[in-house]
Amino acid sequence: MIRSIVTGTGSALPTRRVSNEELAQQVDTSDEWIVERTGIRFRHIAGPEETTATLAADAAKAAIAAAGLSAQDIDLIVLATATPDQTFPATATKVQAMLGIADCVAFDVAAVCSGFLYAVQVADAMLRSGVQRRALVIGAETFSRILDWEDRTTCVLFGDGAGAMVLEARESADADGRGILATRLHADGRHNGLLYVDGGVSTTGTVGKLRMKGREVFRHAVVNLAQVMEEALGLAGLTPADVDWVVPHQANARILDATARKLDLPAGKVIVTVDQHANTSAASVPLALDTAVRDGRIRENDLIVLEAMGGGFTWGAAVIRF
Ligand code: UT7
Repeated sequence: MIRSIVTGTGSALPTRRVSNEELAQQVDTSDEWIVERTGIRFRHIAGPEETTATLAADAAKAAIAAAGLSAQDIDLIVLATATPDQTFPATATKVQAMLGIADCVAFDVAAVCSGFLYAVQVADAMLRSGVQRRALVIGAETFSRILDWEDRTTCVLFGDGAGAMVLEARESADADGRGILATRLHADGRHNGLLYVDGGVSTTGTVGKLRMKGREVFRHAVVNLAQVMEEALGLAGLTPADVDWVVPHQANARILDATARKLDLPAGKVIVTVDQHANTSAASVPLALDTAVRDGRIRENDLIVLEAMGGGFTWGAAVIRF
């Protein structure tokens, strides 16, 4: 049996870090409101020279180094983003060029905040097919470019960044050994209108700005995330009690708390970075993962569950023996 093993993680953030207080000087909001309703304290905002591709390439370099590989070893790049550098070519191919990889398979996946989970399932399937051997799975975003800075209900919630993971195909006879044990994805397009961008190539011909009915999204998020984590664990023959760490999409600290409570998971097992990074969409899960790997919490052989939900709606979970 071929298994996709995580052999390295990496992340990158824009240099500029913006506090709630700084935002409150431009927008009718307060540190108190943002912290109480979301848990967010800071977000990083990309400067003119920092783009989704540059952040992704920096995260990828760190992940490749952590895996002890060189860029030429990579034969697949799957990059999740809703904020590509250009409409085309795929940002994945820009990252390929920045890494100096002469030949590989490279494409983008668009599932907004769930994009990294979608990219993980796609890369895992390709590795297990036996055709590709070493994949870079990246989540990278510059949501600051699609925020309406006059809309206080959305502009305080998001940030920019990138996270990456190296997956390597390895033969494994151990059903509970290291690697991706199960993935589960969903989409329900009936909810397109609750979280979307009001522009696009084929409609307005503009990039557009993010729009969200936050309370509605919140309500669906807790139910869907708890359900999909149980489904993915069930596919792996496991239960929430087996989990060492949950690495959730970082949208709102209250969603993290409510989802953990639903599954009876102690808050101490949930990796939280929303206070430092805000919601970085497809980047949030790999950013949180890399943070917890580098600070020594997540170690080899830990059982981790990644989960995310976002525009579409789309949502998903992955169970990994790290
Ligand atoms: O990544 C994709 C997934 N996205 C999410 O999961 C986001 C899910 N939603 C949320 O996280 C929350 O719904 C929000 C953080 C977006 C909003 O929190 P809420 O507790 O649902 O607040 P609300 O929208 O019900 O607004 C409460 C009040 C309103 O005032 P009134 O109408 O009660 O007078 C808002 O106008 O808070 C007001 N408000 C603000 N006040 C100060 C909204 N945004 C702000 C703000 N600063 N930035």
